[in-house]
Amino acid sequence: MALFEASQLSVSFGGIKAVNEVSFAIEPGEVFSIIGPNGAGKTTIFNLISHFYPLEAGEMHFEGEDISGIPTHRVAELGIARTFQNTELFEHETVLNNMLIGRHVHRSTNLAAELLHLPSVRAQELAFRDRIEQVIDLLDLQRYREQRIGSLPYGVRKMVEIARALCLDPKLLLLDEPSSGLNPEETEDVAFWIEDIVEDLGITVAMVEHDMNLVATVSSRVMALADGAVLATGSAAEIQNHPEVQRAYLGD
Ligand SMILES: Nc1ncnc2c1ncn2[C@@H]1O[C@H](COP(=O)(O)OP(=O)(O)OP(=O)(O)O)[C@@H](O)[C@H]1O
Ligand SMILES: [Mg+2]
Repeated sequence: MALFEASQLSVSFGGIKAVNEVSFAIEPGEVFSIIGPNGAGKTTIFNLISHFYPLEAGEMHFEGEDISGIPTHRVAELGIARTFQNTELFEHETVLNNMLIGRHVHRSTNLAAELLHLPSVRAQELAFRDRIEQVIDLLDLQRYREQRIGSLPYGVRKMVEIARALCLDPKLLLLDEPSSGLNPEETEDVAFWIEDIVEDLGITVAMVEHDMNLVATVSSRVMALADGAVLATGSAAEIQNHPEVQRAYLGD
């Protein structure tokens, strides 16, 4: 069974179909990449999956369950986390505090238990702290943990955003242009982190990305979009050599 399945997703803005009957499936354990020229609808697909935008038509299934109409907060609870094309972190807070912020999503205790400081609350708190430490280790963020976001280089901020999403313990991680603004060396590091996230943490990744080297290095499959519609889905090599994909990038 696919981990995530999108059938005929559509949404329009001001009469223009930003996403037009897009279907795809993401299998567990893969890195599924979405490429396409600016404005193709890539981020909009992530916004539909995250339920930031309501679907106009189509259906989404996650682990076999229809999630088309669920409220936005349920998305993270079910195990879908994301990063943003332009990092959205709390500039004046430390790395550690930014990671703590996502925590409420995974609390299953109620307020009364919390006020009474029941052992279940303490256990969850400790488990979450353990998770944060695991993620800090995995992404090599130890030396930045007490630093404020505003004082950090862009490449580190991008990693903190990925770290924050990982703290939610997702099954599916959506990365919107993880390499944008990074130099080639940092981009190579991103490829290693993505491999670690998939292999060590067992998380499935969907990635929007312009850097074709990164796409070719990490992707199991690639879906190319243009003008809101799917042009082709296949291996990175198949997609790079696809005549329609080449035309979409070069223009007619
Ligand atoms: N909230 C919105 N309101 C109006 N138009 C929108 C909105 N979100 C997206 N669009 C439009 O939908 C189209 C697809 O945008 P989207 O951000 O998904 O592109 P993209 O493929 O992520 O591009 P890029 O590579 O530049 O990030 C664009 O024409 C964009 O202007
Ligand atoms: Mg985008």
